[in-house]
Amino acid sequence: MNPSSRDGFTSTFGVLLATLGSAVGLGNIWKFPSLTGMNGGAGLLLVYLLATLLVGLPVMIVETMLGRAARANAITTFDRVAPRGQWWWKIIGWMGFLAALLIMAFYSGVAGWVYAYVFKALSGEISTTDPKAAGAAFGALVSNPVSSLLWQWVVLGVTGSIIMLGVSKGIEAVARRLVPLLFILLLVLCVRSLTLPGGAGPGLTFLFSPDFAKITPAVVLTALGLAFFKLSIGMGTMLTYGSYFREDQNIPATATRVMLADLSVSLLAGIAIFPAVFAFGFEPAAGPSLVFMTIPAVFTSMPGGIVFMTLFFLLTAIASVGAILSLLEVVVAILSERFGLPRKAAAISTIAMIAVLGVP
Ligand code: PFF
Repeated sequence: MNPSSRDGFTSTFGVLLATLGSAVGLGNIWKFPSLTGMNGGAGLLLVYLLATLLVGLPVMIVETMLGRAARANAITTFDRVAPRGQWWWKIIGWMGFLAALLIMAFYSGVAGWVYAYVFKALSGEISTTDPKAAGAAFGALVSNPVSSLLWQWVVLGVTGSIIMLGVSKGIEAVARRLVPLLFILLLVLCVRSLTLPGGAGPGLTFLFSPDFAKITPAVVLTALGLAFFKLSIGMGTMLTYGSYFREDQNIPATATRVMLADLSVSLLAGIAIFPAVFAFGFEPAAGPSLVFMTIPAVFTSMPGGIVFMTLFFLLTAIASVGAILSLLEVVVAILSERFGLPRKAAAISTIAMIAVLGVP
């Protein structure tokens, strides 16, 4: 494909929001709080901050620069930049293709549960102050293959329709609307959580005052993994987005801003969740089920619970959109540029592959 005819991001601010849209997602609102809760709070946060600064940010900058230099999808990028005869570099591009498909298979599944929870929260179906009852409601959703798959397909349908519109009219246009909305909803929830009696003190201490004894080698590995997942690096996403960056875009500055903004979203999510969890005496270490079992019980315990619970799941659903778009784009760019599929056909094939992969 002639590089000048490629779609791409149209403005500096649009690039920032689209890249931030990829970084922000279930990682901030589901993974970060659950890992922080399970690993003793501030200790994990501290190592995660270091991992992001010392490893994540430099990798993000390099990956984006590679993409912009090659102006191509993840696989073609390695064809172009690999030194002659060193074919093995190309494996990295193919690994990105596979990784994007595999991550999407589970990520869109979890996003499906979140979409389902928006409606369950609104209808009052998950309004219970007993985490066990909330657990049973969650168990009923995830153990029902039909409803889980249907919700996953709804997620794929929504994001697939956006990706068909292209980079500037799809990804960038949606990010411009959703990212600011996400910040507003998050701030509303933080205010609600911090103004609950008795929660702010212990919740903020848990999140911000590290217990160094809890920083084990396993915590360091977890934090490193989280840093990669959070910044969407190491799987071709930033390579692909970098290929759409404008020539005059300052990559280190953009990456630093995205990193800082993404970090603020995680911290705000922690501030929205932990003070509320402590205010009502719930367990912060519930793990991946924190968002689906503990959170409904926490919100039901507070005045205006249904409204705030619905806002919480809506916010999470919105956050997942940009991340899913960026994963889809890795595959769509490869199918359209390497295999010559028109964009719509590439988007439909990608969705179909993920829908099938998501079944197991
Ligand atoms: N960064 C996203 C999140 O934190 O939810 C997840 C993600 C998106 C991971 C894109 C990897 C990726 F390529």
